[in-house]
Parts: sequence; structure tokens; C-alpha cells
Amino acid sequence: HRFIPASEAAVGQRPAPTLLLLHGTGGTEEDLLSLGNMLFPGAAMLSPRGNVLEDGMARFFRRLAEGIFDLDDLHRRTRELTAFVRAAAETYHFDPSNIIAVGYSNGANIAASMLLSLPDVLRGAILLRPMVPFIPEQLPDLAGTAVFVSAGRMDPIVPQAQTEQLIQLLQQAGASVHANWLNGGHGIGLEDVRAARAWLITNL
Ligand code: MLT
Repeated sequence: HRFIPASEAAVGQRPAPTLLLLHGTGGTEEDLLSLGNMLFPGAAMLSPRGNVLEDGMARFFRRLAEGIFDLDDLHRRTRELTAFVRAAAETYHFDPSNIIAVGYSNGANIAASMLLSLPDVLRGAILLRPMVPFIPEQLPDLAGTAVFVSAGRMDPIVPQAQTEQLIQLLQQAGASVHANWLNGGHGIGLEDVRAARAWLITNL
């Protein structure tokens, strides 16, 4: 993993969050560092690499096929990632109650899984091209949690209905959700960054 401490520039009137960067399938802990820096210049960044390998590509949990997740592994890896984040907060001395996840694709899916199963871990999340990781038997209490969802109307991996279902689940759990629909596919670009940045500024 990589940890980048907060720089002086980020220390404003309000304490800057720590960004938990979660890459997509086949990514590394380096992938989202520049995105994190664009979203919140100078914020501390914790960027782990997914522990699961699929044909040599790193991911955050196992899947049986595209979009079909190994739920036992998902739950185990979600707890494992949470334990890692809590330990990192002690090692690097950042505030564990002020963490914003920034996840893309598979990374957004494990961030959504954290929200739905361990609602106290994240203060907020930026989910880029997420899916519904699992449907909880009992909804968590996400009151006070802010979530930004960025979706592509032409995403071949994430059908619109999945995004809508995730947004609904999060809202039913009490999260305040902002949906950003773009006319793009699964890849992310500057439009995502601009919208996410604007959301961060107004919601933190
Ligand atoms: C997943 O497996 O989490 C989703 O299909 C997205 C991805 O391909 O990473």
C-alpha cells in the first residue's frame, strides 16, 4: 500500500479527511493517487492494493464471473480491509472518523460493501461506476454519511438499474446520496473528477 501524509496546504479551518483510495480490477495502489490529489489537494491518502488475484490482476474480492460476486469472500475481504484501515489510522496517526473512500469499479464495490455492512467506518464515499455489492438482510444506519455516485449511462459493465438500486439502498439506509449521471461508459474522466470535486467541497 501507499500512504501519503497530509500536506500543510490541506490544513484549513476544517480538518481535511483522509482519502481511502480503492483501485479497479487490475490496478495498483498507484492508480488513484493523482485522482485523489485532484479531488482534495494535499489531503492524506491511504491506498491499498487489492489482496485477491484474478489471472494476475489485483482485486479487492473474488468474483465467480463478471458481476457475480463470491459473497463469502466479499464479506471477509470487507472486514479485512476495515481492519487494515483501522490499523493504518494508528500507524500513520490519522483520524479514523474522518475517512472518505474514493473507489473505482471493483474498488467502488468494496467501498459500497463497507457502507452496507460496517456503516461506521466511512464518513463518506465517492463511488465511481459502482454496482450493488450485495443486498443486506437488514439495512445499516447510514444517517450522516454522504455518498457521491458517478455512473455512465452507456456503461457495458454496470446496467443503469444496478446503479439506481444501489442509490436506493443507500438512501433507504439514511445516507445522503448525490447521483452524477454521465453519457459515458465504464471509464472515468475529467467530468467525473470535476463533479466529485464540487461535491466534496460542498459536502465537507
Ligand atoms: C467487479 O468485479 O467488482 C465489477 O465487475 C467491476 C470490475 O470489473 O472490477
